[in-house]
Amino acid sequence: MVDSRQIKVLPDAAQLAQAAAREFTHLAQLAIFKTQRFSVALSGGSTPEMLYQLLAAEPYRSELAWEKIHFFWGDERNVPPKDANSNFRLAYEALLSKIPVPDENVHRMKGESPDLKIAAAGYEQELHSLLGGGPGQLPRLDLVLLGLGTDGHVASLFPGSQALNERQHLCVPNWVEKLSTWRLTLTFPVLNNAANVLFLVCGTEKAEILGRILDSDPKPIYPAQLVKPVNGEVHWLLDRGAARQLSRFAD
Ligand code: 6PG
Repeated sequence: MVDSRQIKVLPDAAQLAQAAAREFTHLAQLAIFKTQRFSVALSGGSTPEMLYQLLAAEPYRSELAWEKIHFFWGDERNVPPKDANSNFRLAYEALLSKIPVPDENVHRMKGESPDLKIAAAGYEQELHSLLGGGPGQLPRLDLVLLGLGTDGHVASLFPGSQALNERQHLCVPNWVEKLSTWRLTLTFPVLNNAANVLFLVCGTEKAEILGRILDSDPKPIYPAQLVKPVNGEVHWLLDRGAARQLSRFAD
């Protein structure tokens, strides 16, 4: 069972986004103070959009040293960057196009590539070259943002998919049977080497899977339960709807 101190329940999606913006800013300012850099892997899906919009507006926009922030992605769909389903496009429209972040700080996963193996290998190289960690050493992201699928997937690590077993590569193509599509995804070695993982989960449709993951015994059945940074912190920001089946937080 996840320690209650790692879980924060907000009244609604808007206040969840505000809490996430405060946490993002805190972690970024701390990392920049210590190392002159903040590296973050953004999540896709719909939940983080409000967070990205908040970060692009005051007060957060002027509180953050964008030139010292490097953006990666946890996963990407097999679509071009301007496609409505692109995780890059989500972040670009809501945040990246509105802040003075240098182009070289935006490390896009090339989900549209005709050869996803080459795209994944290139991404792994990009992680190594910025975040250090030569061959055999793991790059360390300061923050990984994750959503949660109703099936317990995180990034594009879906139940039953091949990438769940990957322990060498940091980024791989992953066939997602239920969606009949390829994805690019970071793998557990790099997720579990992060300094901070922040789950953003909202909506009543996530209540059941959250109850199974946060209330149940630790036997890992779902991919989300395998997110356990070896030397890092995991925090969950939930709205009341998503948290309603958690015995510890039931209204
Ligand atoms: C993606 C995301 C995925 C997402 C969850 C939750 O590419 O879709 O990386 O892992 O975080 O599916 O999505 P929602 O935030 O839309 O519920």
